[in-house]
Amino acid sequence: MRVLITTVTCTAGIVMLRWLDTSPRMNVLAISGSLRATSSNAALVRAAARLAPSTIAIEIYAELAALPHFSPDLDVAPLPGPVAELRAAVGRCDAVMITTPEYAHGMPGSLKNALDWLVSATGPIDKPVLLISASPGGAAHAHAQFSEVLRTMSMRLVDGGAHVFSRAKLDGDGNVVDKALLASIRAGLAQLAALERSPPA
Ligand SMILES: Cc1cc2nc3c(=O)[nH]c(=O)nc-3n(C[C@H](O)[C@H](O)[C@H](O)COP(=O)(O)O)c2cc1C
Repeated sequence: MRVLITTVTCTAGIVMLRWLDTSPRMNVLAISGSLRATSSNAALVRAAARLAPSTIAIEIYAELAALPHFSPDLDVAPLPGPVAELRAAVGRCDAVMITTPEYAHGMPGSLKNALDWLVSATGPIDKPVLLISASPGGAAHAHAQFSEVLRTMSMRLVDGGAHVFSRAKLDGDGNVVDKALLASIRAGLAQLAALERSPPA
């Protein structure tokens, strides 16, 4: 919500009016499932950070490659540092955004590894998660797999769609310029915010 407040400047006797945004901020942890330096899925996460309204703060998680391979034997105190940091980041955010490519009609192992580390944590439970998949072939298989995994982890899924991706959807600096893709990110963030405001069933 925006409320109008006044500021009085004494010297010139002028009353300045300005808007103050009083809406609570939603903090979103955004994770790209690609480790590639020029990843299009990382570009989607950056686009979300650019598009997000002032009521949504996007924190980009960039430590996927630092996570050890999941083993229940390592899932004991003290946790490996990168795992503890991932769990803390998921625990303190209000919602999660995941973008993912598809590999061999499946989910990227690095992202599934991160989710496996989160299965025994409480942070993801009932947390809204926006899933957007993007690959040249449309990523329908990876999207379906991650949808199932996220629901199994008791996260509240916002389906951001599985998208056919080509380099033509990026500009020369690697930023997403495709209008339809930008619109679906914007719509996904709005749905995420609405879900975050509603209590879990
Ligand atoms: C090993 C491998 C397997 C792939 N398998 C698929 C696939 O099954 N379906 C698809 O749409 N794209 C597939 N791709 C293409 C990637 O999804 C594509 O390169 C995508 O842009 C990677 O995402 P990124 O740009 O975020 O790194 C594959 C790429 C690699 C390297």
